[in-house]
Amino acid sequence: MATDKAKVRAEIDHLRETIRHHDERYYVLSEPEISDYEYDELMNRLRKLEEAHPELISPDSPTQRVAGRPAEGFPEYRHRVPMLSLDNSYSVEELKEWDQRVRRGAGREIIEYVAELKVDGLSISAIYKNGVMTKGVTRGDGTIGEDVTPNVRTIRSLPLSIRREAFQLPSGAGKKRRREHDGPAADLGLISMEDEIEVRGEVYLPAEEFRRLNAERAEQELPPFANPRNAASGTMKSLDARVVAGRKLDVFCYDVLVDGRKPLATHWGALDRLARAGFRVNPTRALCSSIEEVMAFCEKMGDERDDLGYEIDGVVVKVNSTALQEELGSTSKAPRWAVAYKYPPRQATTILRDITVQVGRIGTLTPVAELEPVLLAGTTVSRASLHNEDQIRRLGVMIGDYVLIEKAGEIIPQVVKVIESKRTGRKAELRPFVMPRHCPACGEEVVRLRGEVAWRCVNSACPAKIRAGLKLFASRRAMRIEGLGEALIEQLVSPRIDYDDEGKPILAKDGEPVKKAPLVADFADLYHLKRHRDELIALERMGEKSADNVLAQIDESRDNDLARLIYGLGIRHVGERTAQILAGAFESVDELMEASEEQLAEIFEIGPVVAESIHEWFHEPRNRELIGRLKEAGVNTERKSTGEAAAAGERRNFEGKQFVLTGKLEGFTRDGAKELIERRGGRVTSSVTKKTDYVVVGDDPGSKLDRARELGIMTLDETAFRELLGG
Ligand code: IVH
Repeated sequence: MATDKAKVRAEIDHLRETIRHHDERYYVLSEPEISDYEYDELMNRLRKLEEAHPELISPDSPTQRVAGRPAEGFPEYRHRVPMLSLDNSYSVEELKEWDQRVRRGAGREIIEYVAELKVDGLSISAIYKNGVMTKGVTRGDGTIGEDVTPNVRTIRSLPLSIRREAFQLPSGAGKKRRREHDGPAADLGLISMEDEIEVRGEVYLPAEEFRRLNAERAEQELPPFANPRNAASGTMKSLDARVVAGRKLDVFCYDVLVDGRKPLATHWGALDRLARAGFRVNPTRALCSSIEEVMAFCEKMGDERDDLGYEIDGVVVKVNSTALQEELGSTSKAPRWAVAYKYPPRQATTILRDITVQVGRIGTLTPVAELEPVLLAGTTVSRASLHNEDQIRRLGVMIGDYVLIEKAGEIIPQVVKVIESKRTGRKAELRPFVMPRHCPACGEEVVRLRGEVAWRCVNSACPAKIRAGLKLFASRRAMRIEGLGEALIEQLVSPRIDYDDEGKPILAKDGEPVKKAPLVADFADLYHLKRHRDELIALERMGEKSADNVLAQIDESRDNDLARLIYGLGIRHVGERTAQILAGAFESVDELMEASEEQLAEIFEIGPVVAESIHEWFHEPRNRELIGRLKEAGVNTERKSTGEAAAAGERRNFEGKQFVLTGKLEGFTRDGAKELIERRGGRVTSSVTKKTDYVVVGDDPGSKLDRARELGIMTLDETAFRELLGG
């Protein structure tokens, strides 16, 4: 018995070590060694063993990243060393003045600086005791932060434990921790695992994850986050760690303290040490021997800002020598040895010409700002989201106002505020916005449900709702019926004019043409369109070829996997990820349809609100009938095994390969190309490094192409890429 237990313990230890190794390869180094499938197998095995032997679960086990239950609130945490802020400089002159102050203060002409990217997120501190992460804390006011440990633990690139040997400094000076002056990164002293190790860094949401999250929120008719920083900080303060785990926050570490002191002689050395210890440190950084070199870095990064895959708002410049940092000291707010060089924000001012109202999939009325077109970060902007009536009230915005708009994370811009000063003398040009009491699409009265901010059209036959539902169903992430675009959907859901044998419209007594029911009233109707091929061909901008194309795509979509179907149904709160979780937990739509609210809520990562929404949807008789008709039409409603999915044409010939995309491709959208790569087992990353296998080059490539040439990485034009994809 005892030996059995020892065996289990040994296997658990081995699995944990292996998983930690692969976590680092994947999340920190972007250099995976095994497939996601193999990784999941390891994780499943470990979970199973821990379930059978709960006494062997330890807090740093990879299975313990996500806590199961929402927290009640966050306790306060007093920082051992205050987390200071930074002074800003907005121009080259200000940067030069700061350099002069530093040189004067140091009494030296030549100072070494480290230039780092100022990633736009929120700063956190992770505290390790005996090598294990015990706390994760926000900055708060710099003195007192919030203990958000369960949330910080979900950041996959942040190790839950530090490998002893990885963080060990070369011995020699024993435990005495004295530093030399400004020498090379001569590490003095031995960090013992008994010391408290504090690692600080910036938590952020990658641009792509930000886009995904906002698209998901839009589908659920929730107001999107204004920018990745708000999204990251809102996420970090969520009381439910499962929500946090579902949003892929990441971190760049930029500082380390041991028992409250900087352990290394230089900042550059500290960054290097952190990276070697398995922490994610931004590879884009520069060791500069003059402020001119710093300025060159700032300029270069200003040009490359759009290609990073995350938002930055400037560059942080720090004095490299730890001793000199101490000598220069800090004010109560910010250190004198560091400064933030800020880039201009991506904002513009324009006139709000009108506010129109859109009707979404579940009937939500969304006000949209119609703007005087204005150039913003390279594109002309003429519309911006206003989210809902409350938001309009909060902003106090009137039609005719000058407004400040902001674009962050490469998405639709947002109205940030009204320029009040431009109202003077223009009162007559302004008029308030009034939310319509009737649906602009179908004319039915709209309702505002208790506890909700949104007005809704509850008419299930509202054409705007049907259109929006079909758009999601056909979308690339759902059933992938690419030929079913907005223009075609519009025609399919509109009532049809009836014609006589001579091709003349049949008129009713009042002289109006007789209208027949639309070709499509719900998803299931799509699968009977074949019978109406002639009518389809006769539609505007269709023709035989496009009609057959769409019909073939609809046909093919019958074989999609369960997750795509569940997502495509458009159940409120069920985004792509939740759909995948549900498809993993249930064998079929039938099984899911019969699940109780309690059963649903028990599923890991599914909260009570989502459970209720799913349960409600499947208990609506109209929806149950729809599922029956989809099944009758031959649409797959069951989970497929991995083998089947592979047989369905998903060749995983890019397994372990890393791609970078640059420039505009003719035949693919960026998301489309990415998906094709990922379906074959490859990964798409945002910057070109030694580990990149292929750079796919479209029109107008950016600096990534130069970088690829510099590193001798294989580049593919669109034709070569197509060939690699298999024609
Ligand atoms: S150093 C005393 N380094 O900028 C040193 N901060 O405006 C203070 N930030 O609160 C922090 N990237 O949230 C540092 N590479 C970086 C940073 C960085 C982003 C943020 C951080 C800080 C704020 C100060």
